[in-house]
Amino acid sequence: MPVYDGKELRIIGFLCNWCSYAGADTAGVGRFQQPTDLRIIKVPCSGRIDPLFILKAFQGGADGVLVSGCHPRDCHYAEGNYYARRRLELLKRFLPVTGIDPDRFEYTWVSASEAPRWQHVVQTFTDRIHKLGPSPLLAAPLTDAEMAKLQSQVEAGSGCGCHK
Ligand code: FES
Repeated sequence: MPVYDGKELRIIGFLCNWCSYAGADTAGVGRFQQPTDLRIIKVPCSGRIDPLFILKAFQGGADGVLVSGCHPRDCHYAEGNYYARRRLELLKRFLPVTGIDPDRFEYTWVSASEAPRWQHVVQTFTDRIHKLGPSPLLAAPLTDAEMAKLQSQVEAGSGCGCHK
């Protein structure tokens, strides 16, 4: 595992509770080595992720944002990740308009049993963010309280957020 000159960057990970969060947990339990830059926000479903959460993370000083949910057809809310895929793809294309390098953002799918895949995703994304370096947008990094507020905003909704 590379040691990034002892420098940790701020990578925010929005992970679906049912698959990717469980996959990250499986990787941890299995002692798969991973970079320590990632700060995880657990969401009920990738469909719950409002693109504004991601912009807010960048605005708050995130150097990279990773979203991971259940594989297509595996969403516990049937179609939340299909909604997510559309929104996140649009967001990725829109990021340059906001001055954010789209390479600082990625979305993917990892299931609960894919610990090696989770390790690969985290390692690859972290390597990419370290090559890009700290975000030039950094104004004021997210504090623990702001991270908690972001988590509570996520929890204010339920399910995938698609079904009212
Ligand atoms: Fe995991 Fe919907 S429950 S993406």
